[in-house]
Amino acid sequence: MSKTSSTLPGATPKTAPGETAPGETGFGATGFGVWVEYFEANPSRQQRLEQGWDASAPVMLTDGQRRALVRSFQRFELGEGGDGVRLLAKARAAGDPVYTRALELLVAEEQKHSALFGVGLRRMGAASLSAHWSDAAFTRLRRSLGLRTEIALFLIAEAVAVEYFEALAERAPDPILRRIGERIRTDEREHLRFQVDRLRVGFAGSSSLTRALVGISWWTVAVGAATVLCLDHAAALKACGRHPLAYWGRALRRFRDFAVTALRLPEGRIGLGSENEVPTSSGVALLGPGVSIAEVVAEPAPVVGASV
Ligand SMILES: [Fe+2]
Ligand SMILES: [Fe+2]
Repeated sequence: MSKTSSTLPGATPKTAPGETAPGETGFGATGFGVWVEYFEANPSRQQRLEQGWDASAPVMLTDGQRRALVRSFQRFELGEGGDGVRLLAKARAAGDPVYTRALELLVAEEQKHSALFGVGLRRMGAASLSAHWSDAAFTRLRRSLGLRTEIALFLIAEAVAVEYFEALAERAPDPILRRIGERIRTDEREHLRFQVDRLRVGFAGSSSLTRALVGISWWTVAVGAATVLCLDHAAALKACGRHPLAYWGRALRRFRDFAVTALRLPEGRIGLGSENEVPTSSGVALLGPGVSIAEVVAEPAPVVGASV
């Protein structure tokens, strides 16, 4: 199997997304400057994770695995490819330009994830879908909601899906698909922390009762989302060594941990590995990124599964 040092075409552009130079945004009263700094640094890690992919390596899939993963990748490609225009407009209206800037950079990362699923589809010799009812329905639902609820839906969708990316990274039968999974899960782990931080700010003035009721409604939606994902992607999960029922439990446990952190009262420790905790002038401490900027810029690319 030959090795190349090229960056996979169609994935990460060479230039960092965004127009704001590092240091221009400051840290902002709400503390989201740390997230702008993280998202502006992250393309460096993304490019490192995409180095050495040999897209010409033989495809290591049975016909059944290929069919399952194509169906699954087509849906994820659509789901991750939104332009976020309406979400960003809501964020702008909420009046924190530093948060809005960070969200713009997150949306750009999601579009790269969509491109990566497209890379996987082309590798498997399959076409993209132009539309799918589930994506259209989810998009319509999100657009009808306020910013805080839309971010909560994002948290649910990402917490449930990140287990899928973990499964791809660790157990996909094909080495390039494992690299795609590794690349996406690395971003998504941080996205979860980012959504939690915005929700913590959004619920700053809410009572314990409100938080409890919101938590119950989130849990109901999360159970539905995890069930739909397990049913819709069951064959792909099995191809990646995950039993759908076990996946369902793991996805919901992960969601629970993040939801509890998002809804916890501002007093006391945040929990969830909050060693990078960011104090803010509003009194709501944020989780901040789970890695330091130095690690993002300089950490070595991990070895994932079998070598490519
Ligand atoms: Fe994503
Ligand atoms: Fe994400």
